[in-house]
Amino acid sequence: MSHSYMIRGAKKLHGTIRTSGAKNEALKALAATILFGEPVVITNVPEIEDIKSMIEILERLGARITRNGDRVTVDASTITESDIPRDLATKIRASVVLLGPLLARFKHVTLPDPGGDTIGKRPIDFFLEAFIRMGATFTKTATGYVGTAKKLNGTTIFFPQVSHTATESLMMAATRINGTTILKNCAMEPEVVALAKNLRNAGAAIEGEGTPTITITGVKALKAPKRWEISPDRIEAGTFLIMAAITRSDVTVTNCNPEHLSALLLEFDHIGIPFTSTPSTISVKPTVKRKRATTIKTHEYPGFPTDLQPQIAVLCTQSDGMSLIHETIFEGRLHFLETLKKFGANVILFDPHRAAIIGSTPLRGTTVESPDIRAGVAFVIAALAAKGVTTIRNTYQIQRGYERLVERLAKIGANIQEVEECA
Ligand code: EPU
Repeated sequence: MSHSYMIRGAKKLHGTIRTSGAKNEALKALAATILFGEPVVITNVPEIEDIKSMIEILERLGARITRNGDRVTVDASTITESDIPRDLATKIRASVVLLGPLLARFKHVTLPDPGGDTIGKRPIDFFLEAFIRMGATFTKTATGYVGTAKKLNGTTIFFPQVSHTATESLMMAATRINGTTILKNCAMEPEVVALAKNLRNAGAAIEGEGTPTITITGVKALKAPKRWEISPDRIEAGTFLIMAAITRSDVTVTNCNPEHLSALLLEFDHIGIPFTSTPSTISVKPTVKRKRATTIKTHEYPGFPTDLQPQIAVLCTQSDGMSLIHETIFEGRLHFLETLKKFGANVILFDPHRAAIIGSTPLRGTTVESPDIRAGVAFVIAALAAKGVTTIRNTYQIQRGYERLVERLAKIGANIQEVEECA
């Protein structure tokens, strides 16, 4: 059964909203449990669709998993299979991170084609080339790849381009293979840093996370750490802050790390959004001042995150003048701007990577379909600012990354409901 959100916009929000655990950290933590021969307890795991899919994949491989609130216990010692189920692999791109832990443990993996998705082609060549350097062989089949290795050995790998999940997948494999691996041109995202720290707490020998070079020396076994807590989701926190900014509201986002949001907060300064922060909260303050246009160029961390580009693009519709958006990471992530025009946005798409948004334009309610997590939530932002009612179809896409969004937004005053779609 498909669901829609119905949002009546142009309403101020007010109050406090707590950030959930980070999707892109929790997905990798779950994948990493494959490296352990004993149960691992992970806390602050968000209850979102992508996490449900990852848990289902691990269960289908043979893991025993229990969930109690935000606490997930994974016993991956019972895994016997290393064939990633095709139906689930195509649901979440993050399934590709399983390559590393499965290859390291079983020396065999079947990976169905993760395929492209609405935000871009998203190939997996960096993964394959790197595992081949470690000693693996891949055979292309009609539906994906079969990877095998007699033995994997530590080596030096230079990623041709910074890749978040390739860095994590290789780092995971390297903890349990022979010798020392040096990964160069690594992703420096907080999620990569958190994974490295948690694996080190479990006995892994990892150095250099948060810099472009990570060095890992394989160890015989990992021991479940006493505490493995997922950090707050910086993208979710940023999304809530933009919701507050566009509706000129007084909202405090709690349980977040302002340091992880420096690029967004700098843009708030450029646009003219007043805010204050403490080490774990950020408050947006209401203002009657007009918003200024800006230039956004997405970049790997610590640059402006591509995962907040659709959301800030919507905010730019309310700025005076021409804002420029340069999406450098994914070639499909500006497509949603065509749909944003239905709200009344004045958008010029120059090419798959560059667009201009000319403001400010009043937004009005409309009916749209959510193509992916971030574009979907960008439409929620537009709907909150728009006069009238907006219907956003295919809420599954949004729920892949945002936990109990309707309930949490309603608590801070949003007029939002989830309704079942009639066939
Ligand atoms: N790339 C290749 N070959 C590869 C791997 C990547 O050409 O083998 C390219 C990609 O096509 C892209 C660039 O490298 O142009 C960077 O992509 P990256 O590999 O860093 O992306 P990812 O690891 O697949 C993760 C997040 C994304 C987030 C990006 C960028 C997870 C599960 N996903 O994807 O999150 O946008 O990093 O930070 O961690 C989201 O949460 O909505 C989301 C899409």
